[in-house]
Amino acid sequence: MKIFYSSVLILSILFYTACNNTKNKMAVIKKTRTEKSFGNFNGEAVTEYTFTNENGMQASIINYGGTVTKIITKDKDGKYADVILGYDSLAGYLQKGNPYFGCLIGRYGNRIAKGKFMVDGKSYQLATNNKGQSLHGGNKGYDKVMWTVKTKTDSSLALTYLSKDEEEGYPGNLNIEVIYELTADNGLKISYTATTDKATPINLTNHCYFNLSGGRDSTILQHKLQLSANKFTEVDSLLIPTGKLPDVKNTPMDFSTAKEIGKDIALVKGGYDHNWDLNKSKEDMPLAGTLYHPASGRFMQVFTNEPGIQFYSGNFLDGTLSNTKHNQKYIQYAGLCLETQHFPDSPNQPSFPNTILKPGEKYLHTALYKFSIK
Ligand code: GLA
Repeated sequence: MKIFYSSVLILSILFYTACNNTKNKMAVIKKTRTEKSFGNFNGEAVTEYTFTNENGMQASIINYGGTVTKIITKDKDGKYADVILGYDSLAGYLQKGNPYFGCLIGRYGNRIAKGKFMVDGKSYQLATNNKGQSLHGGNKGYDKVMWTVKTKTDSSLALTYLSKDEEEGYPGNLNIEVIYELTADNGLKISYTATTDKATPINLTNHCYFNLSGGRDSTILQHKLQLSANKFTEVDSLLIPTGKLPDVKNTPMDFSTAKEIGKDIALVKGGYDHNWDLNKSKEDMPLAGTLYHPASGRFMQVFTNEPGIQFYSGNFLDGTLSNTKHNQKYIQYAGLCLETQHFPDSPNQPSFPNTILKPGEKYLHTALYKFSIK
């Protein structure tokens, strides 16, 4: 009798465990898109689109500034956290001095000296907004406009914007489309295309500030960065390229093998805010760099077809921004940007790769930020 009862008990336990296992297996994460209101801008509704993939990774984007508001990834203990800097509400993104958290940048990412350039023998004067230079498109760049949602799926959002002739001083009506896609293998892919009706400089990019610690570390100094570049664009005191492309070897700019960001940062006046000249590759989307946060195990790879990458170490952050996520103090070096791009001030630097888009041509730029655990 005793044996009979014990067997029943063991069988019941086995049955219960088996059922539970099946239940766990059935708890698959579904690929979804959800939408929620994110306030109003000039009377227009701002919506936050949140994409979740089958692994539970999430990316959220708003149609104001085409801004990425959240990227939620797993750490080595399976805990999810947001790995980009930003705000809890639209008010944060609208505040004066928002340092371009997560947004789309254009018409020309980074600086154009004195906001002047010549195209087809004609000189142009852009709006200047940074110590007499034009930065990130001028006073009202693509980070401060509403983007139109063209199409949306469970994993992607296509945004368009028509940048009119003479906007911020730029020539030509520029028709832009940016597609954000959350991939099944934990990547956030950004595909940019554009056409114009007059020759114009163009250099679009995204300005996410990463901190892979997901809120554990107040700075990115312990992250390890690798950049696939042997040269960088030297800049003057106004952060305008001098035209020289010095070798990174034996300098604090050397990230050709992974290096802790804090190691040499004190040797770089003002911190890292430079464009690296990516090594030439035969691949369509070569690896531009990697970022690793050892304590959480989070690892990010950046792939792009662009010739350069701006590594900005969050030098101007000073802890004064309001409405930040969970009221975090974003102090100097709280987050870093890896902006896939053409070199700054290219319209005035004949030796740099061309940034002039002509009528009949198509601008094509792809960037992929891929997350995993090491
Ligand atoms: C870029 C620039 C920096 C700074 C930030 C925004 O990445 O390179 O100099 O202007 O944007 O604060």
